Amino acid sequence: MRTQVGIVGAGPAGLMLSHLLHLQGIDSVVVETRTREAIEATIRAGVLEQGTVDLMVETGVGDRLKREGFEHGGFELRVDGEGHRIDLRGLTGGRSVTVYAQHEVLKDLIARRLEDGGKIAFGVRDTSVHDVTGSPVIRYTDAEGRPQSLECDVVAGCDGSYGICRQAIPESVRQEYLRIYPFGWFGILAKAPPSAHELIYARHDRGFALISTRSETVQRMYFQCDPNDRVDNWSDDRIWAELQARVAGDGFRLKEGEIFQRNIVPMRSFVCEPMQHGRLFIAGDAAHTVPPTGAKGLNLAVADVVVLARALENFFRRNDTAGLDGYSATATRRVWRAQHFSWWFTSLMHRFEEVSPFDARRQRAELDMVLSSHAAQQVLAENYAGLPLR
Ligand code: PHB
Repeated sequence: MRTQVGIVGAGPAGLMLSHLLHLQGIDSVVVETRTREAIEATIRAGVLEQGTVDLMVETGVGDRLKREGFEHGGFELRVDGEGHRIDLRGLTGGRSVTVYAQHEVLKDLIARRLEDGGKIAFGVRDTSVHDVTGSPVIRYTDAEGRPQSLECDVVAGCDGSYGICRQAIPESVRQEYLRIYPFGWFGILAKAPPSAHELIYARHDRGFALISTRSETVQRMYFQCDPNDRVDNWSDDRIWAELQARVAGDGFRLKEGEIFQRNIVPMRSFVCEPMQHGRLFIAGDAAHTVPPTGAKGLNLAVADVVVLARALENFFRRNDTAGLDGYSATATRRVWRAQHFSWWFTSLMHRFEEVSPFDARRQRAELDMVLSSHAAQQVLAENYAGLPLR
């Protein structure tokens, strides 16, 4: 088999890249270890920046998003029981975010790729990439157990944090930047109506909490926890008591309901540079991870492949390699902006156990600044709503 762009991974980066390339008449094949059913059933966060929404609408995959997504013109910062609205729209000149879960984005992209005759090999195993500085080949065993070999001009590594593609960049070439936070998020899905119209990011002496949503009937909530804690240590009553305590104040109470999923999310910041080696280009979580506080993960993946798709268009149409040569530098500029923002918002809102008295007071002063300064709120809003994609 032969294609122009071999894409490893059918997540947001891989599928969006395949879709954007198709619109430019460039052929690609996506290989993915999971089945289509598994991908479409994995409930994951989705706070889509304005730029991500606009891209989906402009490229014809935004109909359901426009119908079913929840557009949010702001969010709440809740500090020690007092709510403060961050008016995204007002502070950014009209930008908003849309809450639409990641697996819904994936469903829309998969459906569209298949409608357009796109090739996605689901359920493959033993994927490996070869000769990325010469004539790249992707080898894998397909769902029927047959060995396959896919020759390509370019490989796009969109296979997530634990994928194989990043490892194909020699260690002597790549530089990895990692920060691990001394806490995790305990996340739940509950059958309950929304407790508020907008997301709530709460800072409390007991630790951070986030009140998010999946639909009119399913809510997603998190509270800061010990990263080594175990979900079995927490009864439903204890979970609700903890969440209620962290958002209490102004007479506010969360609407409770049956908890049907619990997990502990580790928190880390990670970047691998360069995001390229020879004809291999990595994108999304394969190249970087952000802590979820700023909700940037999916949006960054999309931003990477917008840059990559444009570079590939110039390469295949005009044999112009300038875009590909500059891919890593262009993409990492935005990546590091988002890294800084995600680190900053995480640091501002969480409780740090081993903090010096000075840093504890400094964190309070910083919160005070964000709550009282229009300029500081503008910086927060601009970063949260996201920089334009172009
Ligand atoms: C989520 O709904 O899972 C979610 C929302 C906002 C975040 C992180 C996660 O910042």
